[in-house]
Amino acid sequence: YSEEELYRPNFHFTPKKGWMNDPNGMFFYNGYYHLFYQHYPDSNVWGPMHWGHAISNDLITWTEKPIAIYPDEKGYIFSGSAVVDLKNTSGFGSLQNPPIVAMFTYHNPVKEKAGEAGVQSQGIAYSLDEGLTWTKYEKNPVVKFPNIKDFRDPKMTWDNVHKQWLMVLAAGDKTMFYSSKNLKDWQLLSDFGKNIGAHGGVWECPDFFPMLIDGSDEYKWVLLLSINPGGPNGGSATQYFVGDFDGTTFTLDESFSQDLKQHKSLWIDYGRDNYAGVTWSNISETDGRKLFTGWMSNWQYANKVPTEKWRGSMTLPRELKLIKSGSHFRVSSQPVKELQNYVSKTIKKEVLKIEKKTVLIDKSLIDLSRVDIQFTLKSLKKDVYTFSLSNNANNTIHFGINTKEKYFFIDRRKSGDLSFSDVFAKQISKAPFTEDFDKIDVRVLIDKTSIEVFYNNGQTVMTEIFFPEKPMETFSVTKENFNFTIENLIINQLKFN
Ligand code: FRU
Repeated sequence: YSEEELYRPNFHFTPKKGWMNDPNGMFFYNGYYHLFYQHYPDSNVWGPMHWGHAISNDLITWTEKPIAIYPDEKGYIFSGSAVVDLKNTSGFGSLQNPPIVAMFTYHNPVKEKAGEAGVQSQGIAYSLDEGLTWTKYEKNPVVKFPNIKDFRDPKMTWDNVHKQWLMVLAAGDKTMFYSSKNLKDWQLLSDFGKNIGAHGGVWECPDFFPMLIDGSDEYKWVLLLSINPGGPNGGSATQYFVGDFDGTTFTLDESFSQDLKQHKSLWIDYGRDNYAGVTWSNISETDGRKLFTGWMSNWQYANKVPTEKWRGSMTLPRELKLIKSGSHFRVSSQPVKELQNYVSKTIKKEVLKIEKKTVLIDKSLIDLSRVDIQFTLKSLKKDVYTFSLSNNANNTIHFGINTKEKYFFIDRRKSGDLSFSDVFAKQISKAPFTEDFDKIDVRVLIDKTSIEVFYNNGQTVMTEIFFPEKPMETFSVTKENFNFTIENLIINQLKFN
């Protein structure tokens, strides 16, 4: 197998060539989803940042477009966001052809090298041709440097509750909120986050938006916040907060403060490979979904993973929901429903008794490098439930549930090539239970080099990448002590063109 064949995912976005990190500026317009991303086209390691661009009409298959925004004398183009300015509040377009307005961080490497202040500031650009080409605003930067070293990743949203443009950015150990009427002039509203939540590293890539509580017409505000390092299993990861926003200030919900006391922090994904994720803008009201995509890597080893031509992939786009169970809020994630359109074959088993190690799938039945598996585990006892993917080169990746010590896990310590990094597979990754249960539904997406596991309707998620010597061939399950049953097992083979 060539590296290209072996490691390029079947259904996760990767750039044709070169380096990719954070998703940027995602929006929907005129039937297309636009994904931009931190991109260095000339090398497979991080470097002078551009915004790459890809489009899709269903969030699953992507067409790469020419590079959208290039670095210039003001600096590299770091992460940011884009909105469709439907009312032409910026005046960059017209009502007939509303401008798409992007805000990004200018990162000035010359100033950085000279140890000067003002390395990071925020600039805007607009597009009148659906994101293909962009014009930078002549009065950039629009948000200048306030004497804070890390000052980046502006995420804009139309705040339909208070009728204002909102922008949130990361400023070291906190987020800062701004508002605007025209996307050009921005006023500082407030900040949030000092001494709240996880602070193991610098705060990056925030996102801030209202969400309806699932099944009600009440809403809360959600703040997503990426941090590097300091993730639950080392390196970079994304936490979230739930609260209220009065148009100026974000305040944690009382129950969420209690949650933070108990759990210290809550994470969108406890696996090691979902970072810098934010949500899509301009999803229509009739659609109403909150769609999210993250970068499927970790700064601990992102520059070293064993791909040559390209480096970096995105998580499958996910639908976020704000779930209230009892008095707890959880932000859940599920793969977008569009994946369903790619199912080419389905195997179903209503009840499966597991008494010893059992092979659920082998390669004569299903190609395990493009599969969506769902099942329910009932009447769980105190035990360890281990699901394994393996091939005949002795590569395995395990995931599952330890109800004795109350955590979910992924174990990639024997998953294939580990030689590129000391930390990639040093230990098992764990996600602590944040509630008790005796029944749980599980959904697993498996691609050539990634696994995304959604427990309990996506209230706990673990995403990790791996690099096997050959494709995974069998999927099996085993238990430590007690027999148990798997119910409603659905194995969906996926097929892409
Ligand atoms: C997050 C990040 C952002 C920054 C970008 C640079 O992964 O460090 O804070 O804007 O990557 O590529």
